[in-house]
Amino acid sequence: MKSLLVINSSAAREGSVSRTLVEETVDRLLESSPEAQVVRRDLGASPIPHLTVETLSGVRGQPATDAENAARKLSDELIAELRAADTIVIGAPMYNFSIPTSLRAWFDHVLRAGETFSYSEAGPKGLLGGRRVIVVDEVEYRLEFVKRYAQCEVVNFREVNDMAEHIKKMTDWMGADVCIDAVGGDAAGSIAQTLTGRLMKMQAGAATVLHWAINCVRKGGNVSIVGVYGPTFNAVPIGNVVNKGLTIRANQASVKRHVPRLIEHIREGRLNPKEIITHRVPLEEVADAYHIFSSKLDNCIKTVLIPPSAREVQAVNASALH
Ligand SMILES: Cc1cc2nc3c(=O)[nH]c(=O)nc-3n(C[C@H](O)[C@H](O)[C@H](O)COP(=O)(O)O)c2cc1C
Repeated sequence: MKSLLVINSSAAREGSVSRTLVEETVDRLLESSPEAQVVRRDLGASPIPHLTVETLSGVRGQPATDAENAARKLSDELIAELRAADTIVIGAPMYNFSIPTSLRAWFDHVLRAGETFSYSEAGPKGLLGGRRVIVVDEVEYRLEFVKRYAQCEVVNFREVNDMAEHIKKMTDWMGADVCIDAVGGDAAGSIAQTLTGRLMKMQAGAATVLHWAINCVRKGGNVSIVGVYGPTFNAVPIGNVVNKGLTIRANQASVKRHVPRLIEHIREGRLNPKEIITHRVPLEEVADAYHIFSSKLDNCIKTVLIPPSAREVQAVNASALH
């Protein structure tokens, strides 16, 4: 953590429960990052004005009047604070089954279409980004690839004794917001799991990564399972799931549903398939292609199989170019 934004919204000062919780959280965060820059907003003591007929266009449209320009200036200032922070602590007491209106006014000033979020066919999308992604793997060329291609942080699990402790240390002892098990039953990394899950078939695959995901995610966090397991028994720490209040979602990749979103990522330049596709193999050579992929040979990241009909089209296109 380099920069921390602390927001209090309780109208109470003495005896405020949310303020006490906020301070305890800030103290804990600063213990592991004492150099972090701290910016504070006390919405209970210095409220942000609510949007009105006079000020609305300052945030949601084009400012023209003095009042609208003043609203835009405040909105810019609050968005700049938000952008600058890599960690945000918000004290949000419950007032009449919702958040205090002071906090709502803050949200109304920082949520600006085109600045902090945008609308798309898939619904509203956050634009602040800058989320940390930590990739855990043992294959060095893949770790190098995600560092270079997607600016991810990487952990080689062969160099780590206790994965949960390691990830917690990396996240100021909070744990990750979301852990994705993208490996499934073929996982390496635990002798006991490999023995019982893969060799003796006492489980539906080695649940090594599922254990790591459940134990590395923060309380109330999400665990997503896209790695494949067999349909029967797995020894997973279900008690930790309950005690941490986790949400678990699982599915085989819904490839067709995600294609339009992937194409949008490519169109908008966020993904460059040329760098992801490392191998193009004729469909008839699929067995060799699978061997290269599963044995992690030749720095393989993504293989595309080209059927004969597509090769004919490619040949026609190529000759048309000459
Ligand atoms: C105006 C107001 C409305 C409240 N509404 C609710 C409510 O709807 N549900 C609830 O569980 N508590 C409600 N409370 C209780 C507060 O959530 C509780 O006192 C909390 O500790 C307030 O946070 P604070 O101590 O940081 O000020 C309300 C308190 C106030 C002052």
